[in-house]
Amino acid sequence: MTQLFDEFRLGGLALGNRVVMAPMTRARCTDTAAGELTAEYYRQRATAGLIVTEGTPISPEGQGYAHVPGIWTDEQVAGWRGVTDAVHREGGQIFVQLWHVGRLSHVSLQPQGAQPVSASDSRARDGMTFAFDDSGAVGFVPVSDPRALSVAEVERVADDFVGAARKAREAGFDGVELHGANGYLIEQFLNPSSNKRTDRYGGSVENRVRFLLEVVDRVSAEVGASRVGVRLSPFSELFDMPAYPEAAETYLHLASEFGRRGIAYVHLIDQLPEGRRLLDEDFLRSFRTAFSGSIILAGGMTHELAAHLMGQGLIDLVAFGQPFIANPDLVARLRNDWPLATPDPTSLYGGGAEGYLDYPRYESPVTL
Ligand SMILES: Cc1cc2nc3c(=O)[nH]c(=O)nc-3n(C[C@H](O)[C@H](O)[C@H](O)COP(=O)(O)O)c2cc1C
Repeated sequence: MTQLFDEFRLGGLALGNRVVMAPMTRARCTDTAAGELTAEYYRQRATAGLIVTEGTPISPEGQGYAHVPGIWTDEQVAGWRGVTDAVHREGGQIFVQLWHVGRLSHVSLQPQGAQPVSASDSRARDGMTFAFDDSGAVGFVPVSDPRALSVAEVERVADDFVGAARKAREAGFDGVELHGANGYLIEQFLNPSSNKRTDRYGGSVENRVRFLLEVVDRVSAEVGASRVGVRLSPFSELFDMPAYPEAAETYLHLASEFGRRGIAYVHLIDQLPEGRRLLDEDFLRSFRTAFSGSIILAGGMTHELAAHLMGQGLIDLVAFGQPFIANPDLVARLRNDWPLATPDPTSLYGGGAEGYLDYPRYESPVTL
């Protein structure tokens, strides 16, 4: 018996089903505020049990991609209010993904053309970002050299997360997801190859997780721990994040610390390098034992795999990324075993309504 379509209590929220729309950057904003196109995009997908928005920078410094909506000004709050109202009118629930890209940025996106910031000054050697070239044209460019944040600045970035969480509440979001995955700022503190600090934010496991736990504590004090989730991509090696011996220990330590804090969920991503699953059942079992909250799993998920892992009690919710782009009615398609459309890879990032709002709902063939 599949549990995918059962109701689920996530923190204090009642979700209509266990299918989550994964966060996806679509770069459809003309400036940094979500507009009507974005509201319509999420409205179309509101039958998901939970939507997690695209990565949403918490500050100008947190930006790493052009045409992405932020959440640090009142104008941005007003834009997001249009989105949350549209989703709520359809009976959906929506968290915003709070994002600081750290070193994965470019001087053309930083205030006064400043250097991007990170735990240390090491550059992601394979890092590319969607920014402006010398002629002002938008395209993929290599990331700029970062500088290390001072201790006072680390605390100021935590303040920026709190300010963004406050704005998220004003904008009507049901909660916030901290983006601790995919090689961005929070993971730059977790991984010893990008964190060479010798102060209380670097070195031991306890020190490398300190920044994330301080952000969790402070954001929880602002919006309530039951409205906070964290996204993590253990072992993913994305954007020059090499494997390290204490990786499992680091993530399992975080799991038990999150459990003590009573956050709503951890959203795990498997990056599936060469199609190989990194987060096997043994790891999921250890994570489950260490963490008492809910677990979402994303990355190449299928109905069958999700049902299997839910049946084993290893995950609570399943997140889909690309399938939600091309199938706004994904929940109905999974429920009815209808075929799934695949997204056009050329319109994932940037542009307008095309490849964004024009994927149709499934219509059963009429048989005469
Ligand atoms: C176009 C696109 C944009 C993405 N942007 C984000 C993002 O902003 N934040 C994030 O955590 N993950 C992002 N992801 C990763 C997805 O959330 C998801 O984990 C990934 O697509 C794997 O799930 P899937 O196999 O179901 O697509 C993005 C993925 C895609 C395809």
